Amino acid sequence: PTVDATGLLVLPGLVDMHVHLREPGMTEKEDFASGTRAAAAGGVTTVADMPNTSPPVATAERYRQKLDLVSSKAYVDFGLYGMIDHDNDGEIAGMAELGALGFKLFMGQTTGDNRCPNDAAIFRGLEAAAAAGLVVGVHAENDHLLRMFGDRLRACGRTDPRAHLEGRPAFVEVEAVTRIITMATESGTKLHIHHLSTAAGLRRVMALRAEGHQVSVETLIAHLFLDDSAYDIHGNLVKLNPPIRPAADVAALWNGIARGDVDIIATDHAPHTAEEQGEPDVWKAYGGFIGVETMLPLLLTAAAEGTLTVEDIVRLCAYRPAQRWSISGKGQLTPGYDADFVLVDPTAQTTLDAAALHSKHNVTPYHGRSLTGSVVATYLRGQLVYEKGEIIGGPGGRQVRPVREISSAAV
Ligand code: DOR
Ligand code: ZN
Ligand code: ZN
Repeated sequence: PTVDATGLLVLPGLVDMHVHLREPGMTEKEDFASGTRAAAAGGVTTVADMPNTSPPVATAERYRQKLDLVSSKAYVDFGLYGMIDHDNDGEIAGMAELGALGFKLFMGQTTGDNRCPNDAAIFRGLEAAAAAGLVVGVHAENDHLLRMFGDRLRACGRTDPRAHLEGRPAFVEVEAVTRIITMATESGTKLHIHHLSTAAGLRRVMALRAEGHQVSVETLIAHLFLDDSAYDIHGNLVKLNPPIRPAADVAALWNGIARGDVDIIATDHAPHTAEEQGEPDVWKAYGGFIGVETMLPLLLTAAAEGTLTVEDIVRLCAYRPAQRWSISGKGQLTPGYDADFVLVDPTAQTTLDAAALHSKHNVTPYHGRSLTGSVVATYLRGQLVYEKGEIIGGPGGRQVRPVREISSAAV
């Protein structure tokens, strides 16, 4: 089929290094088919799926089972992370052999109980990943501190959405970022900080970089396009770990993007059921919400407003992610690369409609936003997979594996 591309821009398909597609075990929230259809509709042609599932992907056996389970259901190309838990450094090499893109380490509590708050265990996991030549991505929040603050707020009887933000002050992130960056340098591990959310956290990263520490930094669409006024409008729907922050933090992250200090933008697409998203008690509510389908329209709107350029979008959401995780063939439109591309109309004016999205549960804080710029068509390895609201064809996505650089510790 041919698509009339008059007046449209051609961009490389986006590479979203941070999604939770919920298989195995949490398919009431999302599954590989629905989540990758949403990706295709959002111009995202490669997704990297997180391991905090039920059970978590923390052994080579579980990794193999997950590959078997999801491989025939993907509508876009996908990579799978393994998890570093408190006691699985012996499993890291086996997961790497099966094509693990890298490893996720949760320093603090979030969906699932996968945290690794023990420094010795963290260090052993970092060493094992370094030996396998793969990137470790960290959820950097100090578990002990966030538990203590949470307990105090509960003791005061607080159950409102803002209590979540108050329970995770910036230094909870700053402390964890400092600790993990210095440990990763010591262990020779390639480190990526997922969803850095505060001005103070970014300042600390820059100070550590100035001392010679090497690390890549991701910010989320949610931390760029929402500030703490969202708690009053959306309640616990916008509960997120780390939390949506005050406007001063949001401005600092955008400044970080303008200065080139932020390497990567991702979605943290973290679906829950519509019922779960309506939970009024903040301590019972889950963190996270969908986002893979709305990333590019929101960024194109920011580009139309002059906040960043379309070239920035391509660098932050396609080129740098593929480069950082050594995913060959992705992230650029150059001979020798896969023909993953997206046609966008940079001037189309629309209103974001949650009902038109492709996830299992389409609850989004961006419903009703005015957008300038929309995804017209998405191509995966030369095949049209999405056009104007419709998914075209069946699940043709393949696993992407990183090119491993054993013994290199450089960013
Ligand atoms: O809010 C969050 N939700 N933060 C995470 O780190 C995990 C995610 C999830 O899996 O729901
Ligand atoms: Zn996280
Ligand atoms: Zn996440």
